[in-house]
Amino acid sequence: MQIREANIKDFEGIKSLYLQAFDNLEGDLVSNLAINLLDEESIIKIISLVAINNNVIIGHIAFSPVFLESINEHFGYILAPLAVLPTDQKKGIGFTLVKSGLDTISSLGSFLVFVYGDPRYYSRFGFKTNLAQNFTPPHTLQYPEGWHAMKLNSTVFPQGGKLKCVNSLNDSRLW
Ligand SMILES: CC(C)(COP(=O)(O)OP(=O)(O)OC[C@H]1O[C@@H](n2cnc3c(N)ncnc32)[C@H](O)[C@@H]1OP(=O)(O)O)[C@@H](O)C(=O)NCCC(=O)NCCS
Repeated sequence: MQIREANIKDFEGIKSLYLQAFDNLEGDLVSNLAINLLDEESIIKIISLVAINNNVIIGHIAFSPVFLESINEHFGYILAPLAVLPTDQKKGIGFTLVKSGLDTISSLGSFLVFVYGDPRYYSRFGFKTNLAQNFTPPHTLQYPEGWHAMKLNSTVFPQGGKLKCVNSLNDSRLW
């Protein structure tokens, strides 16, 4: 298996992956998010990685920048979305994708990384709910218990505030 940066030519493979990994309604929404992130132009680069096996995309992850709305300061990223093909799940591919993305961000500096997802999955990477609680997501969360953050590299971070995200994620149905 190889992990590499995704590009616009991966469009079909990424779409197909999300349609298989999620059920119908969510599949459309989340595959559109993954594809929109591929070509969204953001001041801070969006990180999008694919896992490839035998020329087939079997996993994908994206991290996009988040900003403090009040001062437009970039201080973090949000992990979304993430999926592994159902036939390739439970082989550590999701773990490798998350770790690769966190390593990439860590090499760029000190950041807070947010994720909105299942605590049972994301706690293994060091994501914590208490670190996220003072940061208000761009939209109201359906499952507030899924809102997490972790620190990459030690520095002084903002203590809280309202987050602004990239356009592709700025859709209340995703939160
Ligand atoms: C979540 C997902 C990306 C994990 O990928 P993966 O390659 O199977 O992950 P890993 O092999 O690294 O880890 C598998 C472990 O995570 C667990 N796991 C998977 N999804 C989980 C979830 N939602 N909650 C808790 N644990 C979960 C598995 O049970 C397995 O546990 P084990 O190690 O005790 O056997 C994959 O299951 C997936 O694509 N699911 C559908 C889409 C999705 O839910 N995406 C995440 C949105 S937040």
